[in-house]
Amino acid sequence: VIGLAVVLGVTVKNLKKPDSFKNVVIGKCETYLKENTNLSGYSDCETIWQVFEQAYVGRDPCDVPPEAYYPLINLVKNQLACNTMLFWSKTKTLVHEFTENRECLVTLEDTLLGFTFNELTWCSKNQSKETFTTDCPLWSYCVNNPVRSFWIKASANFAAIACGNVSTMLNGSLESPFSSTSIFGDVEVRNLDSTKVHSLTVLLVTKDTDMTTCENASFKDLQSALNPNITYNCREVPLTTVQGCISNLDIPCSDCFKK
Ligand code: APR
Repeated sequence: VIGLAVVLGVTVKNLKKPDSFKNVVIGKCETYLKENTNLSGYSDCETIWQVFEQAYVGRDPCDVPPEAYYPLINLVKNQLACNTMLFWSKTKTLVHEFTENRECLVTLEDTLLGFTFNELTWCSKNQSKETFTTDCPLWSYCVNNPVRSFWIKASANFAAIACGNVSTMLNGSLESPFSSTSIFGDVEVRNLDSTKVHSLTVLLVTKDTDMTTCENASFKDLQSALNPNITYNCREVPLTTVQGCISNLDIPCSDCFKK
């Protein structure tokens, strides 16, 4: 009997098709909705898939501009509390380790669309009905590639809906933590709406041995790119403090980024 069960088990396993990209997308979308009833503005993952797919299917993988995702971004309205938006650049792992277990700050990747498409690659071809997940253009191979355009549009929207006092986690181990050609520097800073956003605070995460401070020349570029009606602040935050807040949830959020 056990032998038969094993044979059946193996057969069933072999028949199971590998997850299609569509299943991955819908699966991640549904996982998010189960876990975040408060943050999502939309709840039909099948429709999200269909509207998403229309942005790039049948198009040359170097000819999908950010505007192609306009219907998708419009479909999924975020309901984010003011003062919670957290941007980042070159701190991807750390920032998400922090926001994963804390509700006081929210990154784009903690919203429904950001979570669903984070770490995924997709493209199609001229006149094709298919989605491919391999051999797609690399990030900088061509400007209008489906993945890069998605993140540009999603980031522009995340910045445009931001309100109150917002922050950005930057990497103090770099010589120039702010880059005006990064998505944060080029897309998000420029899309902040000064009628809604009062201040932008740089949280510069630094190790003891780092030389970079809030006086870094790259922050002059940030201040010139920022709308003058938005107050600029910068705070050096020890990496150990952020790590402490990641591992010990008893530390109140308000203590994590204190001076
Ligand atoms: N090649 C491949 N991937 C890239 C590249 C590149 N040249 N540039 C950016 N990316 C993708 C990668 O997935 C990378 O982990 O974007 C991610 C973030 O890149 P960073 O340079 O660290 O940061 P930045 O470009 O400023 O984008 C982060 O945009 O995603 C939004 O709201 C989010 O504030 C955040 C900002």
